[in-house]
Amino acid sequence: MREELLAFVSQRGTLLEPAAIEYLLSQSDPLGPLDRFLAACPEVPFVVTLQDVVKAADIGRSVAVRTRAEPLAPPPRPAPAAALLAPVLPVAASFRRQGEPAAQEEPDIRILRDITGRSTCEGTLEDFTRYFRNRFQTVSRMLRGRHEFGGAQDISRARRSTREVRFIGMVSDIRATKNGHRILELEDETDRISVLVLSDSASASETFVMDEVVGVVGKVNDRGLVIAESVVRPDVPGTKPFRGIREHVRAAFLSDIHVGSNTFLAEKWAKLTAWMSSDDEVARSLRYLVVSGDVVDGIGVFPRQDEELAIDDIYAQYEALAKMMAALPDHVSVVMIPGNHDAVRPAEPQPALPVPIQKLFDSNITFAGNPSLVSLHGVKVLAYHGRSMDDFVSTIPGMNYHRPLDAMREMLKMRHLAPIYGGKTPIAPEAEDHLIIDDVPDIFVTGHVHSVGVDTYRGVLLVNSSTWQAQTPYQKMRNIEPLPARLPIVDLATGVAAIKEF
Ligand SMILES: [Fe+2]
Repeated sequence: MREELLAFVSQRGTLLEPAAIEYLLSQSDPLGPLDRFLAACPEVPFVVTLQDVVKAADIGRSVAVRTRAEPLAPPPRPAPAAALLAPVLPVAASFRRQGEPAAQEEPDIRILRDITGRSTCEGTLEDFTRYFRNRFQTVSRMLRGRHEFGGAQDISRARRSTREVRFIGMVSDIRATKNGHRILELEDETDRISVLVLSDSASASETFVMDEVVGVVGKVNDRGLVIAESVVRPDVPGTKPFRGIREHVRAAFLSDIHVGSNTFLAEKWAKLTAWMSSDDEVARSLRYLVVSGDVVDGIGVFPRQDEELAIDDIYAQYEALAKMMAALPDHVSVVMIPGNHDAVRPAEPQPALPVPIQKLFDSNITFAGNPSLVSLHGVKVLAYHGRSMDDFVSTIPGMNYHRPLDAMREMLKMRHLAPIYGGKTPIAPEAEDHLIIDDVPDIFVTGHVHSVGVDTYRGVLLVNSSTWQAQTPYQKMRNIEPLPARLPIVDLATGVAAIKEF
């Protein structure tokens, strides 16, 4: 029936959300609700959601027209690989200067920030209150460090003012008006206020997301509504040059290996291993390898995953990975964080892989949580698997899985890795918000989206590391074309990066 259902949607030129597929398959007549829903749509939607088919099944008549207020994200269009891999500064086609053989350099890895061993939350209501208070206060401090918000008022005082006001708040609602303006509801610990962002104002082109913390400059009108002159993000302060080191040692970045999946690219991985162990100047200069999560495919991560597994035991998956890692040359020290497919709690921040799994690996691997701020030879690397990109893609018009660097820039502007609470990214309410980008890194790396890219934003080198998994049936259904087996490599002396394809 699954095949019949997928064939039916493909004939109709649409796609089905995985949750909608599972729901329909549980119905006595899987095609009925779908047919009714599509018949009621003025235009064939790009994706049919669970909500759509549930509604169509419940009503049982042809009125289930999409009622979602927000527009659907534009279809993810596979970008040509060449465009993504074109040398954009600071990406070089190759390194001009030879690297120093990494074996000459002692590894210098320090974990500067990581939740591992420090989790205290139990998920109580008090934990959530404390978590959001910590987020608000920490990001407020960053905004108060900017000259325009040094003297920001509390919202309760700002709402009584008749002059220009400056205040900081957390976004608790966003709505569009009939005339194309937007109203943000902002809260601080004292009060709540509505802010009108006019469609011709300086902030009109900005997209705001729920639960981010912003500063507002504006005027309160006689109905208590603030007319915003500008809405300001904490952002990364000014452009700074890449803070390099003296030695030309290099770091490489990969993620989403998905060992255990029957789409894991074993041959490509063998090529990578052979190259790393070769006499190639760049390979010999590799001192570090940062592995940003989804190192195995896991078990039970998505419905009917067992049909796509070559190794159906989680320990056996990690054992296979441990062997692959042991085959890498000794001069490459590995830092490994988990992702949403790994055997740790799914809620972020995720701690490092559990000790029994760590014991499967040799000593050349440093395990850290997701996210982690790590110093490599003095260069600060913020490694985050990137689950929140699912929320950015579904919330911000124009964002898609082929442009992960756009989402990463937004994260730096918001100084938060996963601002949207209650979306696809589960968040654990720790006493401190570990997802805040407190310390601005030299390199910010993510994975998760199975794409690849390198760029800079205000002096921070952005790296999205590629996957070692071919297109999965789910990606095929969603028309997502991965860019596997590409290795971004960064010279830690200069910040110059190159992407090597295998
Ligand atoms: Fe992932």
